[in-house]
Amino acid sequence: MAGINRTHMCGELSQNNLGEKVTLTGWVQRRRDLGGLIFIQLRDRSGIIQCTVNKDMTPDVFSEAFKVRSEYVLAVKGEVIKRDDSAINEKMPTGYIEIAVGSLEILSRAETTPMYIEDDLNVSEQLRLKYRYLDLRRPSMQKFLFTRHKIAKVTRDYMDEKGFVEIETPALIKTSPEGARDYLVPSRVQPGTFFALPQSPQLFKQLLMVAGFDRYFQIVKCFRDEDLRADRQPEFTQIDMELSFVGQEEVMEVNEGLLKRLFKEVLDVEIQKPFKRFTYKEAMERYGSDKPDTRFGLELKDIGDEVANSEFKVFTDVLANGGVVKAINGEGLGEKLSRKEIDSLGEFVKTYRAKGLAWINITSEGIKSPIAKFLKEEELNGIIERVAGKPGDIVFILSDKEKVVYDSLGQLRLELAKRFGLIDNNKFDILWVTEFPLLDYDEEENRYVAMHHPFTSPMDEDLELLDIDPLKARAKAYDVVLNGYELGGGSIRIHRQELQEKIFKLLGFTQEQAWSKFGFLLEAFKYGTPPHGGLAFGLDRIVMLFTGTENIRDVIAFPKTQNASCLMTNAPSPADARQLEELHIEIKE
Ligand code: AMO
Ligand code: AMP
Repeated sequence: MAGINRTHMCGELSQNNLGEKVTLTGWVQRRRDLGGLIFIQLRDRSGIIQCTVNKDMTPDVFSEAFKVRSEYVLAVKGEVIKRDDSAINEKMPTGYIEIAVGSLEILSRAETTPMYIEDDLNVSEQLRLKYRYLDLRRPSMQKFLFTRHKIAKVTRDYMDEKGFVEIETPALIKTSPEGARDYLVPSRVQPGTFFALPQSPQLFKQLLMVAGFDRYFQIVKCFRDEDLRADRQPEFTQIDMELSFVGQEEVMEVNEGLLKRLFKEVLDVEIQKPFKRFTYKEAMERYGSDKPDTRFGLELKDIGDEVANSEFKVFTDVLANGGVVKAINGEGLGEKLSRKEIDSLGEFVKTYRAKGLAWINITSEGIKSPIAKFLKEEELNGIIERVAGKPGDIVFILSDKEKVVYDSLGQLRLELAKRFGLIDNNKFDILWVTEFPLLDYDEEENRYVAMHHPFTSPMDEDLELLDIDPLKARAKAYDVVLNGYELGGGSIRIHRQELQEKIFKLLGFTQEQAWSKFGFLLEAFKYGTPPHGGLAFGLDRIVMLFTGTENIRDVIAFPKTQNASCLMTNAPSPADARQLEELHIEIKE
């Protein structure tokens, strides 16, 4: 056909266009046949408009319109006219007008689709993922991706203004032992060797600092073969950056600016700078989490000293073994929770390896608690005072190793807030967590591992601890947290070789191992390395939080399922024998 010469998008038309001759294109949302009149709701990405075909006035067009079915693709020419008063639909942005169709062309027919193309669909996500291109026709899905585009666009504008250069880094790289599991790609040219897909551009962006680019950023795909959750995908996108000649404060400043700009331009929300800050220690002690949601209370309180001399062996044994006893006050929840529900919370914390959950229900008739019989009155009162308990409240108590208590009570906090609607969903709670531990201890591997990554600098005041008590050493590392999600994280890097070697040693790498794994970086660091640091945001997570969805797949055009496969293309799939042979790979049955 000749050019269609579309004049407008469907959803852009309004009463301002009355009388205009327009050419529109789109998909048929719905066709209604009223005898002498056919109504076609035509949809494109901007919205929906009603097109009307009159049998008496345009009989040829009418017979063409008669063939039209849902999801046919049309080009329509006609005049924008006012609807009859009785036909006005105030719910539709274009509800005051319609198109009196003068000609209509079917550009493509459609079979009956396996799902309706409309929001608030009640179909399985499996079906949506199999027919993702149909799922993506739905306005709510399109909105997710428009928001994603806007976030990327504003980011690029801001980074450019701040002097950052966008530089691409390779997708086929050397496999690296730290972090999550790598996705491997076999080399055909060098049989038996493998590339890895990058978990992040970390080492390359540091090399770009050695190369003198000063400020780098990239919106970049990263790949991690890890267990998936609602906010994790095996391939996801980072807004990645690195800066030279900066300390932690400058990195934080630039990123507060970026988030402020995104909130303003994408959501028209003003957020306050500087953001709140919590040290890792404070976040853990108060919220049991290094990504605390501080939109509600239910804070953790240590009650170890109150029960240290009690008769309750569960508590005293744990304390004797270096564990902790902590409590949260479910303010006003005492009467709202049935006995059965309290027991279900006990089961809930068991998924976080807790062995039990004790509670004290403070009722107007006195205290009800399965552990009251083990505690003296002053001990009970001491606990209640510590958590500022009052009649109507219920105090939850957990004793275990610190990690188990933090995980369990941290999650219990979130669960109670969710169940009882304690979270104001209109609030954006944004904060930094700083002073992370440099190292963690891996019980399985029996060695220290880097909490962030092996190139993260210890805090200057903790350098001595590396020799005395390495687990106590804190890092120049920081995370941005929004509404309880880790949005991004980064650190100031080590740029002095002696310190880097010391850290490698702590991590259990020999000199040879360190050089075989990271030799290219260590070599580069010999030739003049600026002090540098950076951060990376999870772009997908920013889009999730900005659009209010809890499902990361909603903000990715073609995502993977829970078991890391694509239902639309059926990837991953077996390779054929010839491909495998070329790669010198044999599959074991
Ligand atoms: P980190 O590993 O903390 O840091 O990753 C940065 C951010 O990326 C997001 N993210 C993910 N999003 C979706 N699915 C995943 N599987 C996933 N994994 C991570 C998170 C996270 O905060 N190179 C360092 C950054 C630096 O030090 O500059 C890094 O990758 O939002
Ligand atoms: P028991 O006497 O063993 O039935 O325990 C009394 C109460 O203590 C029950 O409500 C248990 O859920 C609780 N409990 C058991 N282990 C722990 C623990 N590690 N921390 C807190 N409470 C516990």
